[in-house]
Amino acid sequence: MFGRALSVVFIGFAVIIPALSLQTINDNVRPSQHHTAFHGTSGMTISWSTHAKLDKPTVNYGLTPYTLWQQASSSESVTYPTSTTYLNHVILKDLLPYRTYYYSVSNSFANQTYQFKTARIEGDRSSHTVAMVADMGTFGSLGLSFNDKYPPALAPGEITTIQRLSTTLDQFDFLLHPGDFAYSDYWLKEELLGYLPFDLATGPQVYEQINEEFYTQLENITAFKPYMVSVGNHEANCDNGGTKGYTESICPVGQTNFTGYINRFRMPSDVSKGVGNFWYSYDYGMVHYLHYTTETDFPGAPDAFGGGQGDDAGPFAPTGAQLAWIEQDLRSVNREITPWVVALGHRPWYVASSLCYTCQAAFEPLFNEYNVDVVLSGHVHAMERNAPIAKNVTDENGLNNPKAPLYLTNGAAGHFEGLDTLNSPLPSYVTYANNTKFGYSLLTFHNITHMTHNFISSASGQVLDSATLYKERSFPY
Ligand SMILES: *[C@@H]1O[C@H](CO)[C@@H](O)[C@H](O)[C@H]1NC(C)=O
Ligand SMILES: *[C@@H]1O[C@H](CO)[C@@H](O)[C@H](O)[C@H]1NC(C)=O
Ligand SMILES: *[C@@H]1O[C@H](CO)[C@@H](O)[C@H](O)[C@H]1NC(C)=O
Ligand SMILES: *[C@@H]1O[C@H](CO)[C@@H](O)[C@H](O)[C@H]1NC(C)=O
Ligand SMILES: *[C@@H]1O[C@H](CO)[C@@H](O)[C@H](O)[C@H]1NC(C)=O
Ligand SMILES: *[C@@H]1O[C@H](CO)[C@@H](O)[C@H](O)[C@H]1NC(C)=O
Repeated sequence: MFGRALSVVFIGFAVIIPALSLQTINDNVRPSQHHTAFHGTSGMTISWSTHAKLDKPTVNYGLTPYTLWQQASSSESVTYPTSTTYLNHVILKDLLPYRTYYYSVSNSFANQTYQFKTARIEGDRSSHTVAMVADMGTFGSLGLSFNDKYPPALAPGEITTIQRLSTTLDQFDFLLHPGDFAYSDYWLKEELLGYLPFDLATGPQVYEQINEEFYTQLENITAFKPYMVSVGNHEANCDNGGTKGYTESICPVGQTNFTGYINRFRMPSDVSKGVGNFWYSYDYGMVHYLHYTTETDFPGAPDAFGGGQGDDAGPFAPTGAQLAWIEQDLRSVNREITPWVVALGHRPWYVASSLCYTCQAAFEPLFNEYNVDVVLSGHVHAMERNAPIAKNVTDENGLNNPKAPLYLTNGAAGHFEGLDTLNSPLPSYVTYANNTKFGYSLLTFHNITHMTHNFISSASGQVLDSATLYKERSFPY
């Protein structure tokens, strides 16, 4: 009892003293843009930004907001040329499964205590819901907005996807984002259109400004909900695939080769034998999630050298490494523990426009062979739910125990340019398509046989499309 009372007093001082001195001494180390990511089922990575480098980024945490008695630190305070912030990363280990932890990082104000919930342990068959967005840019004066210079993409007062998710945190356990963040590489397009003042010289700063704004807007979600990412083409470099003839050569060091993406996130590839934030996997309850990259590191990858997008990025591992890893990862899944397998990468190959055929050639045979249940993607700025399909042939069972994976493309989260036009007629496998409403996906895994996908309108919060996939499970698989 005595020891505990002493600790309370001590912690009280520990929190208040730095909080007071911070305001007068050093604003450069004040944390912002908190985000969290699973690190295995018993770990969580806490990341945040500061304007100055930290010698020893530190997280205090505990099971109540008043008992942040545990502490973890790292020496990871990284940056890259042109970045205006340092990105700090600390891994918390040996956490209890499915418990709420409270945390506060180095130099926080006393009011900056956040909370996260650890993953359900693998094999836990309780229902869970995961949210998914893709192609989500910053909103406001640097991105998606209602304005009079550019065809308005938002209605006046319309609630954005970020805002809707921020106020409905109780509806999902974590957030998946397979590619295209912030749209910082849109600075040039926005300037050429007169939405932002044209000045090539300050372009690199505007690029970083858009990034900073986006991750600040996202904090109300990502400080609380693990944010699990796959890379997209807009992370490659600063020139958005050759805007109006400008090439990658206008991008300074720091704004090529996925540099920002590499520094900002710490996905759990170290505990799943993957590579960086590019390919990795983790379990949550009865689901195995596998993230892969559609941008580099496979034959004909679109953002690789000669990939046709002028990006000349990567590779991030020896030739063949990604596909070999996917195969060994899928082969080693124990379907009695995690019956569901979900794969996520940025570019789709079953979609009404911008199909990635080289992606299909690389990934589809593996997903078919290992009975992946659901494939999630973005890239096309619309919502598309397809019939389960394999090798270009629709599964005759539809959603009622298909053998083929269910393909869901949802790049409708919203960015500067709004939504895409879809080619018509739509391919015959498209069972629902919407390119007029911004929205996100909620996937609920009810039990080992049923998963419901809902497409939610960000503006209204209403479910615009709902479909339930049924999979018969017979073990051993
Ligand atoms: C905490 O308080 C400071 C000082 O009043 C304020 O500037 C800051 O925005 C607050 N932070 C949060 C996360 O509420
Ligand atoms: C985050 O949420 C707080 C509290 O609801 C709100 O005041 C703040 O404006 C939000 N931040 C952003 C960047 O939207
Ligand atoms: C991109 O970065 C990776 C390692 O991070 C490196 O191996 C590769 O050569 C780089 N590619 C280019 C085009 O600079
Ligand atoms: C599916 O169709 C696409 C486009 O016609 C083609 O490139 C691809 O080879 C086909 N794949 C299979 C497995 O038939
Ligand atoms: C998208 O959904 C809204 C709301 O259900 C509907 O009014 C609209 O027609 C749909 N758009 C398309 C292209 O299907
Ligand atoms: C699984 O969940 C679905 C949807 O909630 C439900 O209809 C079904 O009965 C459940 N199956 C079992 C075995 O409980």
